[in-house]
Amino acid sequence: MAQEISSRNSVAIITGAAGDIGGAIARRLGEDHEVVLLVDIDGDAAARVAQDLGGEDRFTGVACDVTDAASVEAMAATAAQLGVVRTLVNNAGGACAASLHEATPETWRLDSALNLEAAFLCFRAVEAALKESRGAVINIASVNGIGVFGHPAYSAAKAGLLHLTRLIAVEYGKFGIRANAVAPGTVRTQAWEARAAANPQVFEEAKRWYPLKRIVDAEDVANAVHFLASPKASAITGVCLPVDCGLTAGQSELARTFSQSGHY
Ligand SMILES: NC(=O)c1ccc[n+]([C@@H]2O[C@H](COP(=O)([O-])OP(=O)(O)OC[C@H]3O[C@@H](n4cnc5c(N)ncnc54)[C@H](O)[C@@H]3O)[C@@H](O)[C@H]2O)c1
Repeated sequence: MAQEISSRNSVAIITGAAGDIGGAIARRLGEDHEVVLLVDIDGDAAARVAQDLGGEDRFTGVACDVTDAASVEAMAATAAQLGVVRTLVNNAGGACAASLHEATPETWRLDSALNLEAAFLCFRAVEAALKESRGAVINIASVNGIGVFGHPAYSAAKAGLLHLTRLIAVEYGKFGIRANAVAPGTVRTQAWEARAAANPQVFEEAKRWYPLKRIVDAEDVANAVHFLASPKASAITGVCLPVDCGLTAGQSELARTFSQSGHY
């Protein structure tokens, strides 16, 4: 049955929601938001995912380039028509150059725009609504923002995104707005297609470095986002929650070498 649209509906915005992680987050946030706005530069794909999640007035797709201020303003206006934004998930992201040697000024700027500046644009566009709802921002960072794992401009932008998270938490805490980040490890998504085509063993090889000996699922990320958006996390702001199967905790192979203990 179609949900009645009222100005008091709580709205969750997820950027990059046509992707696998964004779609999983949208599904989970649909459990406790009346309206979920799936935002993507590919508006048709966002609309398809919204339809798959139940469509009607509960899941709505909208085309928006989150690196473009005017496009973001238009998206925020759409959200305002649906209700009051309670949760903003800055999930759109991606990487161009794999190494510093391959990076150009243009690819560096593209990665900065998508992985850092876009989160600032989206936050400012819905800031007033988040004040009204005493809402939450969740920024999808990466283990690449914590240690060096390749894709330098993307990584530097994700490190910046972790600091933007703290900046929002400190400046906007007095309005009841919370800001936290989630830093996923490897998740098998469209973003890995080219690498998986070049090396079909890439995920098996990656597992070796994860203490849990597995990679992360999109649902693992969505569960963390759902928690951070919920009242259960009402005293948590300004933190980064790694969802990385232990990658940033350390490496057992190195611990074995350093300690010369077979227990690792
Ligand atoms: N997949 C992983 O291993 C992994 C690991 C750590 C962090 N992350 C992060 O998780 C988030 C989601 O990643 P994913 O793997 O699902 O990626 P994905 O490539 O599958 O999806 C990203 C989505 O963002 C959209 N997008 C790209 N540019 C956009 C723009 N300018 N405006 C609006 N939308 C845009 C794309 O159309 C796509 O639907 C990203 O921030 C990524 O950095 C992913």
